[in-house]
Amino acid sequence: MSQETGIWLFGYGSLVWRPEFAHVERRPAHVDGWTRRFWQGSTDHRGVPDDPGRVVTLIAEPGARCHGVAYLVAPATAAEVFAGLDHRERGGYARVELQVHFPSSSARPDGATSAPARMYLATHDNPNYLGDAPLPAIAQQIARCRGPSGTNVEYLLRLADALRDLGAVDDHVFELERLVRAHASL
Ligand code: BEZ
Repeated sequence: MSQETGIWLFGYGSLVWRPEFAHVERRPAHVDGWTRRFWQGSTDHRGVPDDPGRVVTLIAEPGARCHGVAYLVAPATAAEVFAGLDHRERGGYARVELQVHFPSSSARPDGATSAPARMYLATHDNPNYLGDAPLPAIAQQIARCRGPSGTNVEYLLRLADALRDLGAVDDHVFELERLVRAHASL
């Protein structure tokens, strides 16, 4: 994909269900070698500094595949869109470049099956990184936390619904959804 056509952005968290930025195409897509985990602390969206919520980041894992959505951002709006997203994700995420793949059901009109894309990644050295924990403990934290953007439960359930809508399976997300629904009687 040339810069004249636009810049692809891969969303695997809230960007799957709440992009809130200008884009000219939206396509189901996946990235290989990455797995989605609720390992990033959120002190500014789904939690507060004294009680951080948990949101997703991607962890490198050979053989893994993460399903999400690719958005094509037009050149005319790219500077504004990425400045806005950099601000929104300033709580520990860095922008990285990688290759996204379009499944055959979502192939582009020009036949392209992959494209270079940007995504936001929380690395383990950022101050809000929480890392791994037993799933029941992560589920309890999600069930409890809320922040300026809403409850952590809403974030998890919307992500799980959006992945189902895409026909994607994510055992980590779906097991957390099951645990949180049981814990909160949802
Ligand atoms: C995402 O949906 O891809 C995303 C959103 C916020 C931070 C990192 C990733």
